[in-house]
Amino acid sequence: MSKILVTGGTGYIGSHTVVELQNNGYEVIIVDNLSNSSIDVLDGIASITGKKPAFEKIDCQNKQALAEVFAKYPGIEAIIHFAASKAVGESVEKPLLYYKNNLISVLNILELMGEQNTYNLVFSSSCTVYGQPDILPVTENAPVKPATSPYGNTKQIAEEIIRDTIHADNRLKCIALRYFNPVGAHPSAAIGELPNGVPNNLIPFVTQTAIGIRECLRVFGNDYNTPDGSAIRDYIWVVDLAKAHVIAVERLLGNKNKNGIEFFNLGTGKGLSVLEILNTFEQATGVKVNRKIVARREGDVEKVWADPTFANNELGWKAETSTEKMLATAWEWEKRLAKKNSMS
Ligand code: UFG
Repeated sequence: MSKILVTGGTGYIGSHTVVELQNNGYEVIIVDNLSNSSIDVLDGIASITGKKPAFEKIDCQNKQALAEVFAKYPGIEAIIHFAASKAVGESVEKPLLYYKNNLISVLNILELMGEQNTYNLVFSSSCTVYGQPDILPVTENAPVKPATSPYGNTKQIAEEIIRDTIHADNRLKCIALRYFNPVGAHPSAAIGELPNGVPNNLIPFVTQTAIGIRECLRVFGNDYNTPDGSAIRDYIWVVDLAKAHVIAVERLLGNKNKNGIEFFNLGTGKGLSVLEILNTFEQATGVKVNRKIVARREGDVEKVWADPTFANNELGWKAETSTEKMLATAWEWEKRLAKKNSMS
């Protein structure tokens, strides 16, 4: 059984990926500092897979502590590095926190790969590296545009650091996955997104409004150059996204990646506007979402959706889950949280 180290494994995408790894026979070791996740996620994972993954409460900025994980669990074959701060607005207010957390972690992971003879890395990147693309759908060959936030910049810089390091040490390999907008939850509703405080992202705000935690969803802008005036994104089900990580690990372990570093867009290829998402949510769940149109949010791009052809062809992976289903799982998860909170 191959051992995989998953940093940020109790987080949103991390926890769904751990489930898929375990379901595919991998032994998972999670490291997470629990700064934006809960230890209870381990029980959620265990309730789905029948196995609680190994867990170490560690901040990836602490290289010594990470090195001890390699000593405690010998033979780690690959690392999936999710651990990072991810709130765009917060990154504008606290840039140093973002640069330190997101980049020192990457430096530590890369140094340890060389030192511990673990040569395979899957890195969590983002479609944010494309900014507002000139051509849509956007392919991996589109130029990386100047970042609009320190958060986005950390993803760009991390990609460059990894590229340079692999160029200098040809034992190392990386698959960088550029996520579009992950949404929804596991169909069991045992794990899902746990936003800290008031959600920044659309879907948790929608579900919290639908359940009555928030009064009203603000639609940021209806004057974009799009068919209905609201901004367009490529929403991908988190479980589809998680599955791509297992394939990426298999590709690395099987020595099938073509260069030291490869980049893949993980999206559906379909762009949906904010208003389309709201309508689909209402249709899928039968629940109305109170909303009002407000001004554009600073830093938002107008429209972005993926050309996932490269990932489809090279990874043999495709995100096919309907928008209705992804939004229905988000709603089931929100209802589950409400039930849990009412009992505690
Ligand atoms: N939106 C609203 N109201 C809300 C929240 C969001 O109208 O309350 C809109 C946004 O303006 C945007 C769309 O819904 O048009 C999606 O917004 P999200 O905040 O959910 O997602 P973003 O596309 O802004 O951000 C995501 C990731 C980031 C990443 C970015 C790259 O969350 O980590 O994509 O574009 F950097």
